[in-house]
Amino acid sequence: MDLNVIHGAALKQVTPCLVMGVAANQLATPLLQKIDKALDGALARAVAAQEFSGTAQQTLLLHGSRQLAAERILLVGLGKERDITLESLRRAGATAAGQLRQRRLTDFTWVPADSPLHGLQAEAMASAWVEGLILADYRFERYRSADPKRAPSLKQLNVLTGRKGDQSAIKAAVQRAEKLCRGVLLARDMVNEPGNIKSPAFLAEQAKAIAAEVGLQCTVLDRPALEQEGFGALLGVAQGSIREPRLIVLHYRGAGDERPVALIGKGVVFDAGGISLKPSEKMDQMKMDMAGGATVLGTLLAAALLQMPVNLVGIIPAVENLPSGSAIRPGDILTSLAGRTIEVLNTDAEGRLILADALTYAKRFEPREVIDVATLTGACIIALGHHAAAVLGNHNGLLRQLQRAGEASGERCWQLPLWDEYAEQLKSEVADLKNIGGRPAGTITAAAFLQHFAKDYRWAHLDIAGTAWQEKGSDYRPAGGTGFGVRLLIEHLSQNLAQSS
Ligand code: BES
Ligand code: MN
Ligand code: ZN
Repeated sequence: MDLNVIHGAALKQVTPCLVMGVAANQLATPLLQKIDKALDGALARAVAAQEFSGTAQQTLLLHGSRQLAAERILLVGLGKERDITLESLRRAGATAAGQLRQRRLTDFTWVPADSPLHGLQAEAMASAWVEGLILADYRFERYRSADPKRAPSLKQLNVLTGRKGDQSAIKAAVQRAEKLCRGVLLARDMVNEPGNIKSPAFLAEQAKAIAAEVGLQCTVLDRPALEQEGFGALLGVAQGSIREPRLIVLHYRGAGDERPVALIGKGVVFDAGGISLKPSEKMDQMKMDMAGGATVLGTLLAAALLQMPVNLVGIIPAVENLPSGSAIRPGDILTSLAGRTIEVLNTDAEGRLILADALTYAKRFEPREVIDVATLTGACIIALGHHAAAVLGNHNGLLRQLQRAGEASGERCWQLPLWDEYAEQLKSEVADLKNIGGRPAGTITAAAFLQHFAKDYRWAHLDIAGTAWQEKGSDYRPAGGTGFGVRLLIEHLSQNLAQSS
């Protein structure tokens, strides 16, 4: 979708469709009154006939007139003014995108509301609309033949600003939103890519291509290099697949010699469970088990496009977890990069094994903080469902910052405790640790396992098992990979920059 910021009067815009949000208790703002007059009272009649009242997600399409240059106007209900949030505006953008697609209106003009909405800033509102429009319009169609019967994707979005003074601030805001969304869409594409295509080597090639495009440094460790370094836990998981593992390391430098933030993303390209094989029902969805890695690559892409003043290290351990004659067995003992030995009692608890080595590796970059993102436990879906990620870690300030960034971005996370008592569940009789803690508190014991390796730095762990993938589409998230975490992490990074300056 091409994006353009233009200046002018709404009534004079020549466009196939004007799109406007309307709050439920603001059906007669000056602009809406002007539009109604230009349409000879068509809006007032629709309201009187109870066809439109501005409740959230309700829409009304009216056709133009001699006094209205646009061919149509699409009104999208925003609900009561006092209930409007950035998230409800993203949803309104998604509703508009759906209506436009259905009607094959691929060129359109969005008009900001002419009255203040719940104290929200004009730039923030414009960003939210643009995010909703772009993210809702996404489809993964790489493997589908073209079909003229399918609704086309949106091509041209014009953002109309009324006063010249607003234009530059709004323009900057919507351009930021567009760059941010590129990171999200990259993450979605990677998650949706099928397992037969996306080997660890494929992920590494993709990371290199992105790095070359936006000027990131990218180094990739292959199996011999990982053996040499001693990535015993990661290699243990990888040994069941003929597709060899990679450790992808990316650097974004936007802040000179400042200490970096390290972002670690679980990159299991397919998780069959290994010898502790998963049930076959819905196993296809386990191509999404590299969503954490996709989020990290998407975040580095967005940070680079946005030229954020921060240093980032992205670390993506990429492996495939398959059963085979060479796979690890339950009962095997692995020696991790940290030197700690791990009794593998369930080969399906593989994410924590590869993350353990990645967390150890992160230390060498002397990070100011480390955030790992992983589709780590089914238990997280039981605890929080599909509406929030779990966040745990060793620094309460960092955890609170992430929760705040979650509220602002609409990618929420909720803290679970990491009390010492849970660590008891991981004690082994034959090794330093075992890789499962039994059924109680599965998300917490997984994090307690990671905590043994997240030493010497501030650390937060995001379990995105419930949020990285959607079986059915909703609001601005179509079915499949959601790209969850890119907007959350970019929001977190920019909030922290604001704090430290
Ligand atoms: N990748 C899965 C977790 C998962 C499940 C993500 C469902 C998304 C949806 C992870 O590797 C796994 O298999 N975890 C096990 C851990 C258990 C064996 C301790 C689980 O959650 O069942
Ligand atoms: Mn697993
Ligand atoms: Zn997994």
